[in-house]
Amino acid sequence: MKVLVTDPIADAGLAVLHDAGYTVVEAYDVEGDALLEAVSDANALVVRSGTQVTEAVFEAADDLRIVARAGIGVDNIDIDAATEHGVIVANAPEGNVRAAAEHTVAMAFAAARSIPQAHGRLKQGEWAKGDFVGHEVNDKTLGVVGLGRVGQEVAKRLGALGMDLVAYDPYIGEDRANQLGAELVDLDDCIARADFLTIHVPLTPETEGLIGAEELAQLEDGYVVNCARGGVVDESALAEAVEDGVVAGAALDVFADEPLPENSPLLDVDDIVVTPHLGASTTEAQEHVATTTADQVVAAFEDEPVLNA
Ligand code: NAD
Ligand code: MLT
Repeated sequence: MKVLVTDPIADAGLAVLHDAGYTVVEAYDVEGDALLEAVSDANALVVRSGTQVTEAVFEAADDLRIVARAGIGVDNIDIDAATEHGVIVANAPEGNVRAAAEHTVAMAFAAARSIPQAHGRLKQGEWAKGDFVGHEVNDKTLGVVGLGRVGQEVAKRLGALGMDLVAYDPYIGEDRANQLGAELVDLDDCIARADFLTIHVPLTPETEGLIGAEELAQLEDGYVVNCARGGVVDESALAEAVEDGVVAGAALDVFADEPLPENSPLLDVDDIVVTPHLGASTTEAQEHVATTTADQVVAAFEDEPVLNA
């Protein structure tokens, strides 16, 4: 069995595949025709968010049984094409939830206290103490858009730091929200009441562009944190809103185009803090998702039930 791995995963996951006796081919940064060539004789494809698994990939890969995503979001995989070609798609929905939640909290503080900007100035020899007066999260309101696994963990952590919680998620029960101390409200109310708006929805046709200029205007000097998916927040509208002082600042880990292009408007705005899709990048999370993913490949090859398919 040949397992093609096109985005780096932790050694622990590769070890599971090697120990099972498979031929493991690591081919990072392959795209276009090179990807189609590499996948043509593969029986499994292991990816993170970097590889776009399009219909062409499924057409090129006659022997493919499973595409396994070492992480949560499967928006880089054409699920309809997978179904049409009878290929299993599985993800690792649990292993990086805490890492993503912790990164979100860190990003909220980074934005509210201008930590990267102050760090940069000091490293350049400038003691700019007077230029950075931030905001506390205590007694402020956190608006959570998408109260799923990551959203709930963020709510718990920031709730414990003294924030009031409101959430918008039409697919979750009021009981669960109440258990977390969060009030379920509609999107407009969530935004209008939030001092910090944190995004935790998947990227779907329904959520694409969910937070645009109109929504940002309702935030009234609050902060936006997006560690979910680029494309949910309109990037040009956000850059403009922060630049014009409509929104106090933003912290973004994810972008509509990744890697973020050098000419992105987001990079020119001082009060926008950015990280290169690091939400899941902890040793613990990467080991966890890599082994879960490898176990799913083994299960598919052994004709056993594949979890999270
Ligand atoms: P999840 O499926 O557990 O939760 C998503 C929640 O969004 C669900 O409760 C769902 O009901 C809700 N939702 C769906 N459509 C909605 C809509 N239109 N409006 C409001 N709510 C809606 O997913 P999760 O594990 O919490 O992950 C959330 C997002 O974070 C995913 O996009 C995932 O890919 C991303 N993520 C990013 C990183 C990173 O590295 N930055 C790491 C982990 C997860
Ligand atoms: C995810 O959806 O799990 C994240 O994008 C994490 C990642 O693989 O970088």
